[in-house]
Amino acid sequence: MAESTMSKKKLEGKVAIVTGGSSGIGEATAHHFAKHGALMVVIADIQEELGQQVAKSIGLNHCTYICCDVTNEEQVKAMVEWTVNNYGHLDIMFSNAGIYGRSDQTVLDLDLLALDHLFAINVRGMAACVKHAARAMVEKSVRGSIVCTASVSASRGSTKCTDYHMSKHAVLGLVRSASRQLGEHGIRVNCVSPSTVATPMACNALGMDVEQLGKAFEPHASLNGLVLEVGHVADVVLFLASDDSGFVNGYDLLVDGGWID
Ligand SMILES: NC(=O)c1ccc[n+]([C@@H]2O[C@H](COP(=O)([O-])OP(=O)(O)OC[C@H]3O[C@@H](n4cnc5c(N)ncnc54)[C@H](O)[C@@H]3O)[C@@H](O)[C@H]2O)c1
Repeated sequence: MAESTMSKKKLEGKVAIVTGGSSGIGEATAHHFAKHGALMVVIADIQEELGQQVAKSIGLNHCTYICCDVTNEEQVKAMVEWTVNNYGHLDIMFSNAGIYGRSDQTVLDLDLLALDHLFAINVRGMAACVKHAARAMVEKSVRGSIVCTASVSASRGSTKCTDYHMSKHAVLGLVRSASRQLGEHGIRVNCVSPSTVATPMACNALGMDVEQLGKAFEPHASLNGLVLEVGHVADVVLFLASDDSGFVNGYDLLVDGGWID
């Protein structure tokens, strides 16, 4: 990250929750939030051991892990309440936890049970996190920022991965509606939409290692000689979470290097 960016503490004193913060984009963003002065970053994830490790590597005075399955609304509510009770308020919700669907799935062989499972995390879980974060912000009159992880899949169809594409379109609908509804409270809601980036999820789903994945997707960016990394996504999330984007609301910020199909 550029030194000029690093020297500015954009999140001084802010309390943030990062769902899916044990790995991939969430992990990188949790580190980035802490580096930029967040008072406390709460990692909410189901991968306990990894989440504890990430919190320790950031420093337990500025980061903590809490086990939370976003498919369970009571757990989401309790996790947000725990954050507010311990740190006074909530400024930022990065609702990012998500999974990938079966990569070869077309509408002809759509497995509706698998779709239900994926929707429970990518759509229902996302909605629960936005709902309870917004409630906590409204209750404490915090002009907070909510950022959801959508995807380039949120704005285009595909020849496969039908349920995943559907779920990310739903995230866009959630963000667009919530941003209109919460604006009156001064709460902004936006989403970040990365193209394919090498994380455990993407590498497992595509059966590639980090290098192979980078090579496979490099031609899809019109930017030459650059491969998307989790740090690029974390930079954009930081922008949307911080006051730098103070008048940005209901926006889907693509991080795709100028995608070419
Ligand atoms: N990697 C990509 O190419 C890519 C591209 C666009 C969008 N995304 C989106 O980015 C987000 C993060 O994915 P990633 O690539 O970093 O994957 P990842 O697997 O590295 O991280 C996802 C995290 O979400 C957590 N999680 C899964 N189910 C959960 C649940 N029920 N409750 C709480 N936590 C849960 C996992 O334990 C994991 O730590 C997802 O929403 C994904 O759809 C990823």
